[in-house]
Amino acid sequence: MVREIVHVQVGQCGNQIGNVFWETMCKEHHLAEDGKFVPSQNKHHDQIRLDKIGVYFREAGEKRYVPRAILVDLEPGILEVIKAAPTGKMFKPDNFIFGASGAGNNWGKGHYTEGAQLIEECVEVVRREAESCDAPQGFQITQSLGGGTGSGLGTLLLNRIRDGFPDRITATYSVYPSPKVSDVVVEPYNATLSIHQIIENGDETFVIDNEALYNISHNVLKQAQPKYKELNWVISLVMAGITSSLRFPGKLNGDLRKMAVNLVPFPRLHFFLIAQSPLFAPGEGAKVKLTIQEITDQMWSSRNFMANVVPGDGKYLSASLAYRGADIPSQEVDGIVKSIQEKMAEDFVNWIPNNIKSSIISVPPEDTLLSGTFVANTTAIKGVFQRISSAFARMYKRKAFLHWYKGEGMDEMEFEESDKNVRDLVTEYQDKQDVVVDMENAENAENAENADEAQAEDAPQEDAPAEE
Ligand code: GTP
Ligand code: MG
Repeated sequence: MVREIVHVQVGQCGNQIGNVFWETMCKEHHLAEDGKFVPSQNKHHDQIRLDKIGVYFREAGEKRYVPRAILVDLEPGILEVIKAAPTGKMFKPDNFIFGASGAGNNWGKGHYTEGAQLIEECVEVVRREAESCDAPQGFQITQSLGGGTGSGLGTLLLNRIRDGFPDRITATYSVYPSPKVSDVVVEPYNATLSIHQIIENGDETFVIDNEALYNISHNVLKQAQPKYKELNWVISLVMAGITSSLRFPGKLNGDLRKMAVNLVPFPRLHFFLIAQSPLFAPGEGAKVKLTIQEITDQMWSSRNFMANVVPGDGKYLSASLAYRGADIPSQEVDGIVKSIQEKMAEDFVNWIPNNIKSSIISVPPEDTLLSGTFVANTTAIKGVFQRISSAFARMYKRKAFLHWYKGEGMDEMEFEESDKNVRDLVTEYQDKQDVVVDMENAENAENAENADEAQAEDAPQEDAPAEE
């Protein structure tokens, strides 16, 4: 039985990246624009495409599939574009929810005033969509953190989903703002207010940093003046990779909860650095000829990271590598992982054993024979939060632009709490980075402890690590 995921896309960015996500899903699962499955000559290949199609699609007729998607915006523009596109018919018409005026880059409008008018309808549609599942594993939200709607309303909806479905996993694909891509001055405010909410109510966040995407598009793909279309292409590649283990048979990260268990040792530290290999411009995939080793090297290279982090300034807590391709030998992958574990031992915390996991998904991506997707929990991600936090501080010190938020009923307290939570997060990453356990002594101490426990009758089971 498959466990379903309900997808919600909020705001302009959320809807634009959601849109490329669904286009990729349709290609990879061989669905035509109307959601009809297109069979091939190979029954076995078809079966693999259909086995777990229920994770993201509801079967609405004989081999016709409807995305488990809800599309939300406070203004109608993007949703109208999506609806009018050839793939627009695929979505359930009732699942388009929009307001009239937008949030005008104001988180207060998205989270409180304007958002409040739309939230009950959103919650109702989410509930209905969840009820159409047999056993939903969780929810995923695509959003930007820099604007007003995806960030403000997106996090309001995240909180409501957490309240309504406390035992389900919530995952967010969150786009972090960069001045290289957008010149809206209040983005650090909106991002900080959002991150505060996501720390508390998200289980897994895939950090999509526009600053890094801009660099990838410019430096790696050699696109002269990257626009959203180019950035979103890169996002579509990595989202296909991340979700491949959820959509196709494989042994690792088969659902959102397993992914969380493998990657999140502390609940607040759930912001993942992601990377994809190969990276190529649209239409250029056929030219790519990389070996598994080369794919691996690229996944671990900061050139391919989708967040602008300082690679030396961080330690990996955990990492997972998903390889896609028709005939990837598992011994080769095992060997490569083992050699990374040895070569990069210094780059990992030494108190979590076996913290690199790998998996092979036999269905290749659309445009290349092989690909690799990297999802890591590294303390280096703090760099993104530091960047946002400094930009926040520069403006907040002078209370610049605050009246716009106060006009929506917000007060300074919420800004200060949010800012503090983000700075605390940075400190927590730093603390974990600084912990070095003396393994030899730790082992001796643990052995002594175990011996004591074995002696004591009915000793309580302790499986938590002795020290942090
Ligand atoms: P309002 O328009 O303020 O109501 O909210 P919104 O959620 O619609 O805003 P939007 O998503 O446009 O948020 C702006 C932020 O998202 C900026 O940081 C933009 O650079 C970024 N952004 C907007 N569209 C895209 C997109 O298609 N791709 C990427 N990568 N970033 C985008
Ligand atoms: Mg908008």
